[in-house]
Amino acid sequence: MAKSTKSTWFCTECGAESAKWMGRCPACGSWNTMVEAPSQSTKAKSSSSRSSSTGNAPKALKEIDFSDESRLVLGMPEVDRLLGGGIVPGSLVLLGGEPGIGKSTLSLQIPLHLKDAKTLYVSGEESLKQVKMRAQRLGGEEDNCYIFCHTCIEDIIAQAEEMNPALMIVDSVQTMYTSSVESTPGSVSQIKEVAACLLRYAKESGVPVILIGHITKDGYIAGPKILEHIVDVVLQFEGENRGSYRVLRGIKNRFGSTSELAVFEMTGTGLREVTNPSEMLIPMHQEQLSGTAIAVSLDGTRPLLFEVQALVSSAVYGTAQRSATGFDTRRLNMLLAVLEKRAGFKLSAKDVFLNMAGGLKVNDPACDLAVVCAVLSSNFDFAIPADVCFAAEVGLSGEIRPITQADRRIAEALRLGFKKIYLSSYSSIELQHPGIEIVKVADIPALVRKLFK
Ligand code: TYD
Ligand code: MG
Repeated sequence: MAKSTKSTWFCTECGAESAKWMGRCPACGSWNTMVEAPSQSTKAKSSSSRSSSTGNAPKALKEIDFSDESRLVLGMPEVDRLLGGGIVPGSLVLLGGEPGIGKSTLSLQIPLHLKDAKTLYVSGEESLKQVKMRAQRLGGEEDNCYIFCHTCIEDIIAQAEEMNPALMIVDSVQTMYTSSVESTPGSVSQIKEVAACLLRYAKESGVPVILIGHITKDGYIAGPKILEHIVDVVLQFEGENRGSYRVLRGIKNRFGSTSELAVFEMTGTGLREVTNPSEMLIPMHQEQLSGTAIAVSLDGTRPLLFEVQALVSSAVYGTAQRSATGFDTRRLNMLLAVLEKRAGFKLSAKDVFLNMAGGLKVNDPACDLAVVCAVLSSNFDFAIPADVCFAAEVGLSGEIRPITQADRRIAEALRLGFKKIYLSSYSSIELQHPGIEIVKVADIPALVRKLFK
């Protein structure tokens, strides 16, 4: 007898789909990550396919009325900036982050800031009373914010259709389920179908939806990557749980740039937007300490200054330890090899620890020079003056290379009261700024002569 249902297998790491079980995922190579997703009923299948209703015919680009797409401004400037100037109607935004980082707090603060618009906040994790307690803690306008504690996505969408809010928030995708899929909430097929239902609702009604997703420790949203390509925008909360600073980063944005980030401080009354993150990322201590250097990085369009900290000590065991927080360890190893080979620093018998202040994760090559200077400063036990900052890439032959948008970085360093900025000698433009001395260096030996003389 022919089977009426078919099973599909999904990788919990990358979301790859397969018709049969495999020990190793062919897409991402992880072992033992394929899980079976029970078949979807025909009802679910038919609901997934788009209806060919009238008004869905192709339209000439010039005939499309653009004014429909005016964004909903959330009233939290940093979040709006990250989204590209507000949330686009009918878009599905995924807000990811580890448990306890502040996703529920931010997502409740958004409707409390939206004074004039009716909003629907759906919680599958907390009761009405718990949400009320949190709202009171956060302060803000409660008049137009409706709370619905429920986990069946069909009921939620029915309520939303009746209420027609200006914005809907669903906390979280892992707690929601659809009755059309026979598996437990949080499983791959449930997550996929719940997100698809919400996407359909958002596109058909034009109501923007913010969907919250917990992240696994490897950084995958909801385990499977599948959610990332279903949704329009992916925002990810990062930060150390110990510290009170949180960084919200755009991972994907169909309607804006993904290179921006927003910084928040978790306070007793919710998340506070930090509009000037450089000021919080540069050191408070007055005395000069060795092993620190200030990097002038760029996050999207905004210059960001922060402290790079390094600790170099003799290796106790045979093999030297290398560890980096917020910086790529391979890149650190490369920079150490450059210092060893091109400038003769004996770092192979040393433990090197590197840390980016404020729990930041950095991948701007312009931070290389600050990393090198922090390592050398710790190695020589020589403090770099507090009014000096660095912005350049370091190449494999020890040459110091120019970076993009040097003008903006210099202007920000000047604004924050720095007196000297180290750049590459190869910077093509004639950089001149009254009030800040520009020191140009060509390679590591030249840097050492100028800085550690
Ligand atoms: P929460 O938003 O519940 O995290 P998530 O939804 O991402 O799991 O926030 C968790 C932490 O934030 C919790 O440890 C308490 C803290 N917090 C504050 O410090 N101040 C506040 O005003 C609120 C609401 C939470
Ligand atoms: Mg939560």
